[in-house]
Amino acid sequence: MAKILITSALPYINGVPHLGHMVGCLLPSDVYARFMRMMGHEVLYIAGTDEHGTTSEVGALKEGMSVEEYCDKYHAQHKATYDAFELSFDCFGRTSSSQNKEITYHIFSKLDENGYIEEKTIKQVYSVDDKQFLADRYITGTCPYCGYDKARGDQCENCTKVLEPTQLINPRSTISGSTHLEIRETKHLFLNLPKIEKRLAEWVKSKEPFWPDVAYSIAQKWLKEGLQERCITRDLKWGFPVNKAGYEDKVFYVWFDAPIGYIGITKQWADEKPLERDWKKWWLDAQDVRYVEFMGKDNVPFHSIMFPATLLGTGENWTFVDYLKGMSYLTFEGGKFSKSEHRGVFADKAVEEFPADYWRYWLMANAPESSDASFTFDGFVSTVNKDLNGVLGNFASRVLKMTASKFSSEVPVGGALETQENELIDALQIKINNYFKYLEEMEFRKALSELRAIWVDGNNYISAAEPWVVIKENPERAAAILRVCLNLIRIYAILSYPIMPKISENMLAKFGLTSQDMPSLQNFNVRREIEFLKPTHKFEVGEALFERITPEKCEELKEKYGSHK
Ligand code: MF3
Ligand code: ZN
Repeated sequence: MAKILITSALPYINGVPHLGHMVGCLLPSDVYARFMRMMGHEVLYIAGTDEHGTTSEVGALKEGMSVEEYCDKYHAQHKATYDAFELSFDCFGRTSSSQNKEITYHIFSKLDENGYIEEKTIKQVYSVDDKQFLADRYITGTCPYCGYDKARGDQCENCTKVLEPTQLINPRSTISGSTHLEIRETKHLFLNLPKIEKRLAEWVKSKEPFWPDVAYSIAQKWLKEGLQERCITRDLKWGFPVNKAGYEDKVFYVWFDAPIGYIGITKQWADEKPLERDWKKWWLDAQDVRYVEFMGKDNVPFHSIMFPATLLGTGENWTFVDYLKGMSYLTFEGGKFSKSEHRGVFADKAVEEFPADYWRYWLMANAPESSDASFTFDGFVSTVNKDLNGVLGNFASRVLKMTASKFSSEVPVGGALETQENELIDALQIKINNYFKYLEEMEFRKALSELRAIWVDGNNYISAAEPWVVIKENPERAAAILRVCLNLIRIYAILSYPIMPKISENMLAKFGLTSQDMPSLQNFNVRREIEFLKPTHKFEVGEALFERITPEKCEELKEKYGSHK
């Protein structure tokens, strides 16, 4: 048993997450956390809302409320949506918490003490009409690298390059749209990355055998280009006021305290039950913790360079990331998701249309891992109808109904395992071992195609064994076949749990079982599990596991979510 710390990148508080955000870090981290718990490991799974920065100020301004009210409102919305998606966080916290403030202050003070903080006077964009400096997202313009005309002052979301506001071409104020901008001088604090660079490079190098290629090469590219000093303060009101004399009227940059939020949220989790929980055992001198981070590709530089550098500079023994899963992007019908243009499925609406598990399965089966992926309703509907309804759902309902009608609502008595079953058991054991291996390696597409193959084996087995024919001559043999099939339903429920927790519980409930009754996946043995449900164990046929989606419904959805725009 190991201790595994799992974090998902913290979604910005403003805006409703869409399917791309879900599959970009939240959902895969949940699947991994569930799987690791089922393997018997001690898991701590943390996420939360990223609340500071200009986006919240801009959002609150638009909705005519205070930033605090705005963040309370949207934190609750995020939380509700993720609950509906069955995300099993141990704590879904907030970067604006008092705990995060405390840890941010501590880390900053250490960096300052150790000489990693520089004061500098810099030139910033000042908006004369708005009477303030325009930090980060308060300024919009054309990206100097790719020409995207809605690039923000901190990063171009089209080409993912990190930017300085002064680099933007044709800059304008995000607040007022004003182009009446000036460059003015202001004093700020910088994290001296060049001074940490050597130790950071050694640390990154040591990760080469462990990190996935994409993450490692992004980190190497940053190191090769040479690290610049990075401004970690802003002329804003919303944020943690800087705890240094002369800087009290400025706040920390959102990207400074956001990743520290992983630690802050852990402390928030511990504070809720102070006697049982200890945040330090996960974060300080925690040699026995394996730390896995999930994030979108554009977040990799912050998690492989900036955050580790911040922690290194403290001189304290923090937990550093061991494995970093960077996901590519999901497009909607080949284009962009856009709230304002009513294009794409947003997570809150998704769960109103279909059970979360339908989405969870599709998203994980088509996860944008090695390259971008596109959500299409045609693909979604076909997956739900073929894989879920046709393969898994059909197998379960066929077996349950047939057994109930030919025998009774009890696992049938008689017969024994024969060659056909032994072959099935061997084949399943191999596939299941592969499935676990892929989940362990966070190769989600491969894992899901293995899971599907495991379901298909059940269908092939029952088609070949033909219990409905055999029963006429040899009822004992038919009883043995159906007993195996009923046990397969339970096995499928267990294996599907990390991906489709609710469907899995529905399957278990047919046998009067709950997810509490599942065995550990460590040394999962098909030969043992295939005989778990003993003769006379009661079951109920109950409702179908899935509902088919009709072509008419598919067209309706395309219309509703702007597939044709
Ligand atoms: N809010 C950022 C984004 O959505 C991610 C922040 S991850 C954190 O891109 F670690 F910094 F919190
Ligand atoms: Zn760009």
